[in-house]
Amino acid sequence: MLSNQIIDWYLQYKRDLPWRNTSDPYKIWISEIMLQQTRVATATDYFNRFLNQFPTVSDLAMADEREVLKLWQGLGYYSRARNLHATAKIIHTDYNGVFPNTYKDILKLKGIGTYTAAAISSFAFNLPYAALDGNVFRVLSRVYSIDKPIDTGEGKKFFQELATETMGNARPEIYNQAIIEFGALQCTPRTPNCVTCPIQANCLAFGNGQVDQLPLKSKQ
Ligand code: ADE
Repeated sequence: MLSNQIIDWYLQYKRDLPWRNTSDPYKIWISEIMLQQTRVATATDYFNRFLNQFPTVSDLAMADEREVLKLWQGLGYYSRARNLHATAKIIHTDYNGVFPNTYKDILKLKGIGTYTAAAISSFAFNLPYAALDGNVFRVLSRVYSIDKPIDTGEGKKFFQELATETMGNARPEIYNQAIIEFGALQCTPRTPNCVTCPIQANCLAFGNGQVDQLPLKSKQ
């Protein structure tokens, strides 16, 4: 099964990243917001400094915004930091400082879309929501040779269903990390490592010679 193959690969090759050694939804949230527009290597240092200064959601809620923005300096997209601060205040007041633990409540929070809500729900609470980020779009489009554009409403809906099916009964927390890592390290945008790929035999795009044409976007 594809999910098992990807999990096996992950257990062998995964990087040891600080947000993977925790099930604290607050820490996972901070990491996912940083990783939206920042590379893993850069995000790691910022993540450690941020958590050092604001170890809990209430510490962040009670901080001065200038302090938060200062820690964000160099990461860019400062609206992310402002949203984090505003959302921390809401969790502090409306949820008594306890991070919400359902997908629906997590999705309501400012700055959190379907991908981030699925990531937090699965990594922190092991809830069965398939995370669909750029890595996952790429892996699924290639393995199943899907030439639907990934940037249309219809395409997104199709891939979301495919992602859920592919996850199947695998443990959400590990499966989502695994397919994201597989896309980041093995099934890369350019020059993917097909020669060493453990699912090469099951990859339809590899069989068709289409790997470098997928995923497809409606506008290039
Ligand atoms: N990119 C987005 N989320 C990630 C995660 N949890 N691990 C590695 N890269 C990521």
